Amino acid sequence: MDFETLEEMCKGCSKCSLSATRTNCVFGVGSRTAKLMFVGEALGEHEDLTGIPFVGRAGKLLDSYLDAVGICRDDVYIANILKCRPPKNRDPLPEEQDACMPYLREQVRLIRPRYIVCLGRIAAMKLIKPDFKITREHGIWYTRGSFEMSAFYHPSALLRDPSKREAMLDDMKALAEKLGKV
Ligand code: URA
Repeated sequence: MDFETLEEMCKGCSKCSLSATRTNCVFGVGSRTAKLMFVGEALGEHEDLTGIPFVGRAGKLLDSYLDAVGICRDDVYIANILKCRPPKNRDPLPEEQDACMPYLREQVRLIRPRYIVCLGRIAAMKLIKPDFKITREHGIWYTRGSFEMSAFYHPSALLRDPSKREAMLDDMKALAEKLGKV
């Protein structure tokens, strides 16, 4: 399947009840030849309204880290586990994640990034391992087939708890080094 067909399918998806309350299905944004892919959890209000991932407060904070380490947002690909917004930003339900995962798997297959960075615990538990502990294991790199995967703090967690920001900067610097940008 090609990218356009996949995106069309995703935008017409009604596999779970979130399709009934969405404004936009937010497929993803960025370079389809990216070496690096970020995977968040699910949309917030701004993403649902604009159709673009990570554009609200958390997204702006993510952008500031990318700027700080010299990674250009246009060179990476950004997607989420869920393509629709859960009501009141509640955690994605297991059945919603399972319904949506085939879209992400197909995105990864088409983009074939070298590095996948999960943003936050929910994405890490889904993509790296079910018992992932973000406080202990953020910034650790795991080899999974042809990918190197890691999880960093979710930018929303950094907004709630600024004491985590230094760790995020360290993780981002290590990522930029991997990408050969620093
Ligand atoms: N939080 C996420 O996990 N994803 C977004 O796109 C925005 C906020």
